[in-house]
Amino acid sequence: MEPKELIAQAVEAMGRAYAPYSGYKVGAALLCADGTVYQGCNIENASYSPTNCAERTAFFKAVYDGHRDFTAIAVCGGKDGVITGAFPPCGVCRQVMREFCGEDFKIYLINETGYETATLAQLLPYSFSAGAYMSAGE
Ligand code: THU
Repeated sequence: MEPKELIAQAVEAMGRAYAPYSGYKVGAALLCADGTVYQGCNIENASYSPTNCAERTAFFKAVYDGHRDFTAIAVCGGKDGVITGAFPPCGVCRQVMREFCGEDFKIYLINETGYETATLAQLLPYSFSAGAYMSAGE
């Protein structure tokens, strides 16, 4: 799948955001190795901390459906859904990506004119992953 198609799905997903507190609408589209796409949006909460980011919504939907193999994610966001620059994934979302993805997993950061591509290794260097956990204490 072309990045352009995944990006269009992330932009569409941003329209589903539930963000009455921050006003920042975020959308994500996650590409599985088999070509399936899962969309996600941020879902805020009056108590703030239960808020779920768009990226994690997409990942959790996909994992629930049995997917464990992912190729790329496109992410966009902005105040009231207006994209004025890249909206990079938060640290928690990067760690969730690392649970299921290798360091070459691609992240398309959508901005007002197009997109930038980053790998998970670039966004989360020297990461802690399932492999490290399994071998801890050996
Ligand atoms: N947000 C995301 O959806 N993804 C991120 O990676 C960063 C932050 C959301 C959470 C909250 O609803 C809003 O953006 C402002 O922080």
